Amino acid sequence: MLRDTMIVVRGLSKMHNKFTAVDRVSFCVDEGEIYGLLGPNGAGKSTLIKMLACFWPPSAGEATIDGISVHEPGKVKQLIGWAPQEDSFYGKLTVEENLRYFGSLYRVPKERLNARIDELLDLIGLESKRGALAESLSGGMKKRLNIAIGLIHSPKVLFLDEPTVGVDPISRNQLWKVIDRIKQQKVTIVYTTHYMAEVERLCDRVAIIQGGRLVTIDTPANLKRKYGRTLEEAFVNLLARH
Ligand SMILES: Nc1ncnc2c1ncn2[C@@H]1O[C@H](COP(=O)(O)OP(=O)(O)OP(=O)(O)O)[C@@H](O)[C@H]1O
Ligand SMILES: [Mg+2]
Repeated sequence: MLRDTMIVVRGLSKMHNKFTAVDRVSFCVDEGEIYGLLGPNGAGKSTLIKMLACFWPPSAGEATIDGISVHEPGKVKQLIGWAPQEDSFYGKLTVEENLRYFGSLYRVPKERLNARIDELLDLIGLESKRGALAESLSGGMKKRLNIAIGLIHSPKVLFLDEPTVGVDPISRNQLWKVIDRIKQQKVTIVYTTHYMAEVERLCDRVAIIQGGRLVTIDTPANLKRKYGRTLEEAFVNLLARH
């Protein structure tokens, strides 16, 4: 099946003072795809995803989301959702109050917002925690709330920076199921991770990044076929060549 391209990245670079954190990276992401950004610590994954999510302007190059340039952040922000690694909510507000607050920031109309909050609480399995203070949630529940906040305005694209870091295997599994359900709703997902099992479980394709540069783009199955028996071995072998 031929799919539309949702994200186009061309020669994107970011300098932090004189240090090049992302160096002329180019790739495309199809609509509805789960696209992984994989690389060792300091590779430039967060810097790259923050440019796509319009937190940081690129130093050079171009990226478009559904045809709109990240150089026009005001227009792109309605199209994209963002769930950072750290908690993005207010601990002293309840789960529902947080969703309502972020919905109002995105100017989601009131009627729509009520329905959207119900949908999202169902999606992340936190209906029973609707009235609980966000700070009282478990680590895994907090990650799920972060994701729901990123989706409050029904974006076409969701960016996740290490969404499962520091949670136990059961919570990670629950998060994977949430991500599966978001994919079923045709949301395009770009996310960074260090967990190979997660890449195999979720990603349609992966871009491997090292030292700010793109090393290769492929499916998890192809990476194993070409570079190693396991994905971890393939990853290590591939980076050792560069
Ligand atoms: N605000 C900043 N100022 C200066 N250097 C920065 C800044 N943010 C990141 N860097 C540097 O840019 C490089 C890429 O960092 P980045 O956080 O994008 O890597 P990463 O791949 O997300 O790493 P990790 O896996 O540890 O999250 C690193 O060398 C980092 O030290
Ligand atoms: Mg990072």
